[in-house]
Amino acid sequence: MRQTDKERIPLHGYRRSWEKDGFFLVPELMDTAELAEAMQELAGLYPSGAEYAASRRDSRADPLPSRPGGSQGKRRLFMQNPEQFAGQIDFPWTGQALNRLTVHPRITEVAADLLDTHDLRIYQAQLWAKYTGAADYEQPLHLDYSSHTLLVPKKKSRPRQVEMFLYLTDVEEGCAPTRLVSRNLTRDMSPVPYHVWRGTHPELYKAEVSFPGRAGSLLVYAPDIWHRAVDMTEPEGARIWMNLSYRAAGTDWLGLQSFQRIAMLPAWQRFVAGSTPRELELFGFPPPGHDAYDEDVLEGLSRRYPGLDIEPWRAALNS
Ligand SMILES: [Fe+2]
Repeated sequence: MRQTDKERIPLHGYRRSWEKDGFFLVPELMDTAELAEAMQELAGLYPSGAEYAASRRDSRADPLPSRPGGSQGKRRLFMQNPEQFAGQIDFPWTGQALNRLTVHPRITEVAADLLDTHDLRIYQAQLWAKYTGAADYEQPLHLDYSSHTLLVPKKKSRPRQVEMFLYLTDVEEGCAPTRLVSRNLTRDMSPVPYHVWRGTHPELYKAEVSFPGRAGSLLVYAPDIWHRAVDMTEPEGARIWMNLSYRAAGTDWLGLQSFQRIAMLPAWQRFVAGSTPRELELFGFPPPGHDAYDEDVLEGLSRRYPGLDIEPWRAALNS
């Protein structure tokens, strides 16, 4: 996951925003050419804004994909508009180019820099699509810790987790870029309850900022940042992005998705077979040399994940 100096993102400017505001946008972290294959895969998962609008005009069935596994719990628990979550699809996806974005070195390097460790775990990887007219997407200002930790955010130290949105469509003003409130204004607020309303906190709603951006841009925010979704207004608009959240290793109270429960899926098996030990550590594989491995386990892994290059693990076992 380490980068050469040439490839590194100039994070010094963003770090100031991270510490002062708690969020920033990296414009076009990836360009269109780099995203081309993932975009093709995406087109097989979601309709375009125009296709979605046409299907609604024709009164055909709602084309938003259903989400096996998904976040039904959140759908039940979130106090408003459960249909706003209808466009979510959890990792792993059919397309490996999309799957590989979860371990993209420029993304994990941002997480490593902000969390001051390369020993990271990914704990959220979901696609989310929103379409104009599909749902009322307005949310109250809230903190995400309600579903990202068993505890509450610690105020007086640096976050041990980071949330990101990788834009997969251009996000214009009418495509509901997420609204966020600077930590400068909320530092002294209690994180409980985790929603605040316009009637009681009008000053926070007035202070919201948002980050329109091109596809390939990366919005990064901390778990103690008040933010919210707003409604899609662009005619025939579509906004599709990937939710990516990382945490420092050893923070078992943080999390959202479990990857063990998807480990039987062919898409996961292909993803594992195409990944390095370092990339798999992000999902909880112990590193080569760990006592979780012996000859039997390695033999089993090579049969469970056909195509996986088992040599790094074997070399560590024999060293
Ligand atoms: Fe949120």
